Amino acid sequence: MQITYYGHSCFGIEIEGKHLLFDPFITGNELAKHISLKDIRADFILLSHGHSDHTADVEALAKDRKGCRIISNYEIVSWFEKKGIPGHPMNFGGAFPFGFGKVKMVQAIHSSVLADGTYAGNPGGFVIESKEGNIYYAGDTALSLDMQLIPPRTRLDLAILPIGSNFTMDYTDAAVAADYVRCNQILGMHYDTFGYIRVDHAAAKRAFAERGKLLTLMEVGETRDFKCGR
Ligand code: NI
Ligand code: MN
Repeated sequence: MQITYYGHSCFGIEIEGKHLLFDPFITGNELAKHISLKDIRADFILLSHGHSDHTADVEALAKDRKGCRIISNYEIVSWFEKKGIPGHPMNFGGAFPFGFGKVKMVQAIHSSVLADGTYAGNPGGFVIESKEGNIYYAGDTALSLDMQLIPPRTRLDLAILPIGSNFTMDYTDAAVAADYVRCNQILGMHYDTFGYIRVDHAAAKRAFAERGKLLTLMEVGETRDFKCGR
């Protein structure tokens, strides 16, 4: 599975020929100044919650891309629909079979509001099952026992977890989260972007290695192939 990191919590993932983009925050990210929106492909934009460090570039990206649709909760999808951007509304526990695979919305422990103060529903994460592999994109979240509800239903190949602390769980809690979701291949997000969330990369990788897990921290703009599926 090909994954490109665009900084902060933004990843582009290609599944079954479709381009999924998660939580775009690029033009406002000092660490992503070398990334140009026009180079980013997006058939679907998945949004974990309304905060601007996850949604700031949605309008610019979606308006330029024919057929691009948002996948998020009802409140966020409704807000973007008023701006002329189509979307697919979901809520916790629900799943939908999109062409590229099945997306299930799961909860996150965080808060959520849109840029103009509009209520953005509750923050969430996504579990995606596809022929090319199963992934968990946690969104902004604290460590939560509810993560243990994922593995009985879905055998994960990759978990994308926040590790930066302050606004989300830190890498020590994220390593426990990796245990909860029973996944050994972890991709880190939500770190280094702001002063509050700078992370010692070596220490973070050690915290996962101690639990027999591999934490990957990608360079902004880097594309990697992750071994998924069976
Ligand atoms: Ni947030
Ligand atoms: Mn955030």
